[in-house]
Amino acid sequence: MRVLVTGGAGFIGSNFVRFALERHPDWRITVLDKLTYAGNLANLDDIRDRIGFVRGDIANRSDVEPLVSDCDLLINFAAETHVDRSILWADDFVRTDILGTYVLLEAARQHRLHRFIQISTDEVYGSAVTGSFTEESPLNPRNPYSASKAGADRLAFAYFVTHNVPVIITRCSNNYGPYQHPEKFIPLCITNALEDQPLPIYGDGRQVRDWIHVLDHCDALDFLIAHGQPGETYNIAGGQEHENIHIARTILETLGKPPSLIRHVADRPGHDRRYSLNTDKLARLGWHPQRQLQDGLRETIEWYRRHRSWWQPIKSGPFRDYYKKQYGSRLSASLP
Ligand code: NAD
Ligand code: TYD
Repeated sequence: MRVLVTGGAGFIGSNFVRFALERHPDWRITVLDKLTYAGNLANLDDIRDRIGFVRGDIANRSDVEPLVSDCDLLINFAAETHVDRSILWADDFVRTDILGTYVLLEAARQHRLHRFIQISTDEVYGSAVTGSFTEESPLNPRNPYSASKAGADRLAFAYFVTHNVPVIITRCSNNYGPYQHPEKFIPLCITNALEDQPLPIYGDGRQVRDWIHVLDHCDALDFLIAHGQPGETYNIAGGQEHENIHIARTILETLGKPPSLIRHVADRPGHDRRYSLNTDKLARLGWHPQRQLQDGLRETIEWYRRHRSWWQPIKSGPFRDYYKKQYGSRLSASLP
């Protein structure tokens, strides 16, 4: 199988490539990645000689065409992914997440693929006041990131209906694990705690996310590549809902750091209160997550403790300007 992994130098993409090489040594994998601030070749260091790598943009036809014409399976992880950045600068979200997905789908229309996996997100449903969203729930994205992802999600579906592109859409909950960029919540809390810096908690910290270990997500994707039906959408979740404040406290406790490092800061505008997925559809097919958050989080904390050489260069680069812009005034006016 010739496999094209877009966004394969990011968090989930790089974990997926490593997982897939282990599970399917016969796959010929090529990564297409623009290497934005979130893409990092160091994420692929140990497997670099076993894959092809092309630096390029999914929104650029001439980057995409030759690669799509030479693949059987395309998995589209490439996206701008951070809600907080989408609030400050939405341009790249619209361009990559919507236009980029369109360019990939157009190329897939010209060349018959075995499968086109569109990595969507649970955030397209919006906030779950009560209950859990099924795949039939209406989409109600409420920030520029989730709105762009919803656009891509429906565009992928439209290419299945209209042009017969064998699209499978997955909507996964919040991932955690190794190689996640330190601006995202869990790695930010871990690395700040390791540096004895405050952990910024938006508002009351009682927002709820469902957490899944990235390798469980990779396993679910591999399962759906084999057993999913084109034209179908599948929710994927860890089934482990927790308040943000609980996660932050657990990280501090695990590292032996004081709870006084927690700082409640001004909330994210339009912050979705809770994400929650009903995963019966995937369970009926026979897939279930394997990892408990308690164990996965401990391992993840240990990974960041041992891999300072991975995250310190990221945190000392342009990250500092981002951090100042995102948290500077919030932290100096932190809430009780
Ligand atoms: P990430 O930000 O860590 O990685 C994104 C990757 O895409 C980076 O390597 C980046 O360089 C690349 N990229 C960005 N724009 C590009 C472009 N125009 N052309 C080519 N490459 C480009 O993101 P992630 O957390 O690994 O998320 C991967 C996918 O999974 C995304 O589609 C995201 O929406 C989805 N998702 C993420 C989560 C999560 O919790 N992280 C949950 C559900 C769904
Ligand atoms: P994030 O990792 O950005 O994922 P998402 O918003 O896509 O779910 O954030 C996870 C949760 O943590 C979310 O409710 C926002 C919250 N959060 C904070 O409280 N402080 C922070 O500094 C960050 C980055 C996130």
